[in-house]
Amino acid sequence: MTDADGEGGGFGGGTGDGDVVRGDRFSGGPAREFLSSLAADERIFAADLAVDRAHVVMLAERGIVDDETAGEILTALNVVEVDGHGSLPAGEDVHAAIETAVVERVGPDGGRMHTARSRNDEVATCIRYRLREDVLAALDATLAFRAALLDAADAHAETVMPGYTHLQPAQPTTVGHFLASYERAVARDTARLLDAYGRVNRCPLGAAAFAGTPFDIDRERVAELLGFDAVLGNSMDAASTRDFLVETVAALANLATTVSGLAEDLVVYSNRGFVELSDDYASTSSIMPQKKNPDTLELVRAVAGDAHAGLSGLLSTLKGLPRAYNRDLQRATPHAWDAADAVTDAVEVAAGAVATATWNESALAEASGEGFSTATGVADLLAMSGIPFRTAHEVVAEAGEASYDALDSAAREVLGDSLSEYVPREEVESALEPEASVAMRDSRGGPSADATAEELSDAEAALVADRERVAGLVESLDNAEKLLQNEVNDYA
Ligand code: ARG
Repeated sequence: MTDADGEGGGFGGGTGDGDVVRGDRFSGGPAREFLSSLAADERIFAADLAVDRAHVVMLAERGIVDDETAGEILTALNVVEVDGHGSLPAGEDVHAAIETAVVERVGPDGGRMHTARSRNDEVATCIRYRLREDVLAALDATLAFRAALLDAADAHAETVMPGYTHLQPAQPTTVGHFLASYERAVARDTARLLDAYGRVNRCPLGAAAFAGTPFDIDRERVAELLGFDAVLGNSMDAASTRDFLVETVAALANLATTVSGLAEDLVVYSNRGFVELSDDYASTSSIMPQKKNPDTLELVRAVAGDAHAGLSGLLSTLKGLPRAYNRDLQRATPHAWDAADAVTDAVEVAAGAVATATWNESALAEASGEGFSTATGVADLLAMSGIPFRTAHEVVAEAGEASYDALDSAAREVLGDSLSEYVPREEVESALEPEASVAMRDSRGGPSADATAEELSDAEAALVADRERVAGLVESLDNAEKLLQNEVNDYA
């Protein structure tokens, strides 16, 4: 590189006139900062080193680079790793900077590292490599969150609470039923992330700029060394596509949306005295000393905004991009990192808040009959005794309050008979009690104790299976890392 300030364009230059010319012409000038992704690329520093190593090992195995040169490059990469991202020379991005650092140590032969590839397939591979780790962290967060929801649901399987529709008291249910409803939703978020992971974990390396390479490379071998399940075939697709970012962020946005609903419910319930957050998950006011505010949950609720912004940022950046590589792609990537960080943090906080919250059983019991919330149960009881449901609904609506006398006079008006002609008085009085109203609803997935127990045991089994799947993914990445390390040790 010939830049007076020593900050070359970063293409591992100095190997010939062509590079010197290129370095001079494309050093960036006033747009250098704007062009560079080097700072943001810190996130893929380790990924780039792994990708470089796997590529060099494969080049050596194929006889494209001799073993000695491969050894020198791999040794230089070890030094670059120890020095860290902060010590990289200037460059347009981490790929160029690492190459420059290797050439600085090895000399012109270091430039052989970039044989049979381009930064286009390189960056796509690095993003996928790193994103796997982020998806696994998000998956772990969903698993821990589900465990916290199931534990609390189990502890409160029979804690009666008011259930709402349109924010109005609707029918009594239980805290267990309520919490398990979120666990079921988060379980689908786990499934969506796992599904996305399967498509993230494909290897684009060897696509080169987009049009493949004349070198006799072994793309499957590189994929194996990097722990990818398979290669992406079409080289133009491999270098261009960022659909894996979209679907990952979509899964994260869905998860954030689920969690924001729970956060909102808990904000409302804590403000009604139904649940008390642990001090660790609450905050106070700088002026009103009596306040205990559910700020952490409000922030959890707000993270859905970050995630949705990431998704729409990605889709807007990618829409209408022509084949194959366009530099717009550089600005797509951070949307995914930001969404992954924000959503994983929010899920972890939500799990902690759920695990440490105290449910106020007496306040819940007191509120659970409010607003004649047992009305549907009474109508169901009348309908079970043979009255058409619509007529039963009319009787209860006419009564308008949770009292036997009101129901009886409504029955006389609507049915022309006393209520006891249809159902024994004790049964009606029992149906007016929130606990009995919950116990009646024993249909599959309902809030009765037995139905809840069955749901919780299904949910527990699904959680165990998902934990095993995630552990299997982690293990296969660990194995690939060891394999690559062993191969590198043969040269360096
Ligand atoms: N830093 C770029 C990115 O993140 C990769 C570089 C590919 N650049 C290029 N001009 N073809 O997408």
